[in-house]
Amino acid sequence: MVSTCNISLDLLRAPVLDTDALRQAFPIFAANPDLMYLDSAATSQKPQLVLDTIEQYFAKNCANAGRASYSWSSQLQNAIESTRQKVASFINCQPNNLAFTSGATESLNTVAMAWGLFNLADGDEIMLCPKDHKSAILPWYNLQKILAAQGKQISIKHFGIHEVGDYELKEIKAGLSPKTKLIALTHVHHVFGLDMEIPEIRGIVGPDVLISLDASQSIGHEPIDVVGLTCDFMSFSGHKMFAAPGVGGLYVHDRAKDAMQPIKLGGKSPVSVSGGLKVEAKNLGELLEVGTQNIPAILSLGRAVDFINEIGQQNIQKHVSNLTVYLWQKMKDLPGVYFAPGIGVCGCEEGFGILAFRLEQVASSDLAFTLDAEDIFVRSGDHCAYLQDKGKEDAAEAQDDYIRVSMHAYNTFDEIDQFVQVLECVIKN
Ligand SMILES: Cc1ncc(COP(=O)(O)O)c(C=O)c1O
Repeated sequence: MVSTCNISLDLLRAPVLDTDALRQAFPIFAANPDLMYLDSAATSQKPQLVLDTIEQYFAKNCANAGRASYSWSSQLQNAIESTRQKVASFINCQPNNLAFTSGATESLNTVAMAWGLFNLADGDEIMLCPKDHKSAILPWYNLQKILAAQGKQISIKHFGIHEVGDYELKEIKAGLSPKTKLIALTHVHHVFGLDMEIPEIRGIVGPDVLISLDASQSIGHEPIDVVGLTCDFMSFSGHKMFAAPGVGGLYVHDRAKDAMQPIKLGGKSPVSVSGGLKVEAKNLGELLEVGTQNIPAILSLGRAVDFINEIGQQNIQKHVSNLTVYLWQKMKDLPGVYFAPGIGVCGCEEGFGILAFRLEQVASSDLAFTLDAEDIFVRSGDHCAYLQDKGKEDAAEAQDDYIRVSMHAYNTFDEIDQFVQVLECVIKN
């Protein structure tokens, strides 16, 4: 992973995507011509076809899906199922193994509750990285508390981040034991922005430990293949991949799916209650989806997948990678810039759209305000990460409040040039 990349700026700028044309698909940029949106890891902007899909549902054929005998209702149910097929093929799984959720946070909580609550026994262990997003780690602490109330003690073992920004593999190796049942991993870290080499970690943990993968920051940026990633669960949000907020997905491998129990029941749940509650779900959707779903958001996810496929996942990946490497190359010699682990430290030849840093002498929250005054939107603050026990030696590092720049297909090299010019002005003054 460690390399000090020196690809020429001109080579990085060689066009992969027609960003002028692409930006025209996003009405937000025409409405805000001065906007420099560098916060796509928080949420992406939405293309017109996604907005049209949502409007069409509310303005032209609003009904509940599959609840009535009239045509709109069955058409909407069919549209949800064809969206499921489309999203399943986008991540290389069967539709039976994919449930729609409200987003990554709900998916990650569902893994802990619908699988963990019913399958972890007293003495079992799970592993996670406390520097991952809180949505990926807090559900396990919550589960630990719930299981403790039932008299079962599970251990949560930590592994850390290597100084360059990927997982500390030797800590994973050292933490494993015959009691390890699951490891929670993130595909691309939301602050450090590196690909965490999941297949390599599968090699370390072996075939029996389940992998719960948070793909929130990789889906929509690069091709995602749950088979190649060797994960048992994979969680993601639609709103980070051009769809509306309020929809996400949970993929579950058969071996884990068969061990799950529903944590919510209602509306369409396939249950019988005579002789005790029995749930007979034929697929993951039936097991986990209850009540009226977020129909327009689900439909928007299908259109977002069409949009990404039309641009080409590899093209998005290459363009975003070039932007990230370009940004790092332009920033690396600025005085007083401290990079967070990630491309800024490893100097990798490939980037995933995220670079985090801070400036000597300027608090990141102040810098974020200065950038805001220039219509440059970035993220500052705690980034929903760094769950630390007080007193741990890396608590000081936990205080680092970085500015996170995060980019997507619609960002341009001219924006990066302008961004770096603004930084240079801030540094000089
Ligand atoms: C890595 C990661 N996981 C989980 C989440 C939670 O996503 P959501 O708020 O869409 O549920 C985020 C959101 O920023 C994230 O970056």
